[in-house]
Amino acid sequence: LLQPVILSGGSGTRLWPLSREKHPKQLLSLFNNETMLQATAQRVRNFQGDIQVSPKLIVVCNEEYRFITAEQLREISYQNCALILEPFGKNTAPAVTLAALNACTNDQDSVLLIMPADHVIADEEKFHAVVAQGLPQALQGAMVTFGIVPTRPETGYGYIEIGAQIDVGTPVELKNFVEKPSLEVAKQYVTSGNYVWNSGIFMMRASVWLKAIRHFNLPMYKACEQSMQEAKIDCDFVRIDKTAFANCPSDSIDYAIMEKLANAPELGIHGCVVPFDAGWSDVGAWDAVWQVSDKDAQGNSLRGDVLMEDSNNCLVISDSRLVACLGLDDVIVVETPDAVLVTNKQNTCNIKRIITRLKDNN
Ligand code: GDD
Ligand code: MG
Repeated sequence: LLQPVILSGGSGTRLWPLSREKHPKQLLSLFNNETMLQATAQRVRNFQGDIQVSPKLIVVCNEEYRFITAEQLREISYQNCALILEPFGKNTAPAVTLAALNACTNDQDSVLLIMPADHVIADEEKFHAVVAQGLPQALQGAMVTFGIVPTRPETGYGYIEIGAQIDVGTPVELKNFVEKPSLEVAKQYVTSGNYVWNSGIFMMRASVWLKAIRHFNLPMYKACEQSMQEAKIDCDFVRIDKTAFANCPSDSIDYAIMEKLANAPELGIHGCVVPFDAGWSDVGAWDAVWQVSDKDAQGNSLRGDVLMEDSNNCLVISDSRLVACLGLDDVIVVETPDAVLVTNKQNTCNIKRIITRLKDNN
């Protein structure tokens, strides 16, 4: 049984002013009429072929977002959900541990399909195919990752070294995993041709994850176990114990497990990568939103009340007022009632400079 797990705890600010601490990216509808959380949930609904998917959907999110998360899942008629509510974010490794504890019962050891709530995957069929290709490995006890052929030396991603030629769809052994290398190192990796980006999607048996976390970070395992044992179940909500979770060390899947796996033969768990090419984007910044959006004949992607004249390849989002652009190329405009961003596409990765200044001013 394949158990979908959605990690929905981030509070991304890189899509400011639309995404804010109080309104994270995954709960926004940037594309079509669904939010990214809804799109992620829909993506695992109708698997082609003979993969048996659990009717239950596990979502791990902050308790502050429980109502909006439940509401968004109700809107797309998800009946069977377990919303594991974290009183505070401890990064992704504890979130997966909680999901694994929820999924692993005496008579069931499902394969977890861990998905970030804020990614776009354009080709759902290819995604399903690649999950099917990795599934036998996961069933046999491997930690399966999904790799993207890199196109630039991005330092915000994990890099996976593979020992073979990159062949989309064919599972290969994970030789080494390096999370967020320096620019120098990332450049070497990209030119070597032996590395793929970590997409942030993972697949493994619940018991395999729990074994690994017990091995690499016992205090994390224990804190999560206690948080779950003392959890209060209230309809779909699983309210984990706050005091127990407060003691949980904070770490990501990538640092806590993936980087260590290749150097821990004693554990007996091996890593496996399935390279894939299904129009993946983690929509890290506004230029990526433009990239994956539908565009008109001038290359403009427009939302809301927008008027364009003699302008090309722009992204313009209007939330509350008419926005008119004249003679602009490669510009991003995001209008909201209390803040307007105007920038060009090359600069969108530097938006944290604005966020920092806003925080300093408060
Ligand atoms: N429940 C929960 N709790 N979810 C969380 C938490 C948390 O404390 N922290 C982050 N998440 C969710 C985010 O909402 C996101 O969907 C996902 O987990 C990944 O977290 P990010 O914070 O976005 O990670 P990242 O982008 O820095 O790096 C990861 O993703 C890259 C690809 O996008 C890593 O796995 C990299 O190796 C990878 O390349
Ligand atoms: Mg991310």
